[in-house]
This record gives sequence, structure tokens and C-alpha cells, in this order.
Amino acid sequence: MAVQQIKNDRRIRQVFAGDPRRSRGAVSRFAHRVTNFFRDPIAFKALEDQVIPKLFSGKPDDDAIRVCRRECSTGEEAYSIAILLQERMDALKQSRKVQVFATDIDGQAITVARAGLYPASIIRRHITGAAGALFRGRAGRQRIPRQ
Ligand SMILES: C[S@@+](CC[C@H](N)C(=O)[O-])C[C@H]1O[C@@H](n2cnc3c(N)ncnc32)[C@H](O)[C@@H]1O
Repeated sequence: MAVQQIKNDRRIRQVFAGDPRRSRGAVSRFAHRVTNFFRDPIAFKALEDQVIPKLFSGKPDDDAIRVCRRECSTGEEAYSIAILLQERMDALKQSRKVQVFATDIDGQAITVARAGLYPASIIRRHITGAAGALFRGRAGRQRIPRQ
């Protein structure tokens, strides 16, 4: 309210409903964007060891795999899941159609996620092995490969 200079809380709905750009800006300011690749190592290890194998087991090779992650912020978490799925396919020598959908209430964060461009230092620190070699970069930024 202070940022938007709204002094009367009864006016919030009225002000934001009539001005989508202003409401999107407010959402971005409120959003707590903290994220990173493989941010919660314990959760990602459980995902890798216990969840992802089940997505592949007992299904025909041409079955698609779809994952949806809400609250994806600037995309690192969704791309981390995509990397784990790719690594599983590599291990199984399979090539399936994989789709990772991701959403967030913060449109500015989604714009960053869609671009898939992250500092090379962050990529190097968090993404190792074969997955690291997939990233293409220039001027200190590296792009998540389109697949
Ligand atoms: C702390 S970040 C976490 C990002 C990622 N999930 C992770 O753990 O690395 C929280 C994200 O949730 C989003 N968010 C909060 N409430 C939401 C809602 N109701 N619908 C969609 N996204 C929401 C915020 O915009 C923010 O980008």
C-alpha cells in the first residue's frame, strides 16, 4: 500500500482491478523469488531416486512424460527437474517426449524463466556432469538448451 500510495485499504480492490499493469507490478514486488538450481538437495535427491524412476517404469517407450511445477519463480527449479529427467533417459538409453510445465503468479519471473538465460558462474556451480556440457553461453551468461 505504501509503494502504491494507497492510503485507504478499501480502495485496494478498486485501484488494482482497474489497472492490470499496476497490479502486475505489485505482485512482482510482493513475490519472494528466491530460487536456484537444485535448491533443496534432499528433496531433489528424493525426486531423483524415488519419484523419477517410477515415471519411467512399466510404461511403453513412446509414452510421454509430463511434469507440472507451480511457483517456479525464474525457472531454475523447473530446469533442474528437466535435467534429472534427461539424465534418467540417458541412463535408460531412451528418448521420450518430455514436457515440463511451470507456472508462477509473477509475470516478470516467468519472463526470465522463458528466456532460460542464467549467469555462467551459477550454471557451473550447480550443474555438473553431462548436463553442464549442454549449456551454451556468451558474455558470462549461459542459455538452457531448447529441447
Ligand atoms: C520462494 S520462490 C520458490 C521458487 C521455487 N519453487 C524453489 O523452491 O526454488 C516462491 C515463488 O512462488 C510464487 N508464488 C507465490 N504464491 C503464488 C501463487 N498463489 N500462485 C503462483 N505462484 C505463486 C512467487 O511468485 C515466487 O516466485
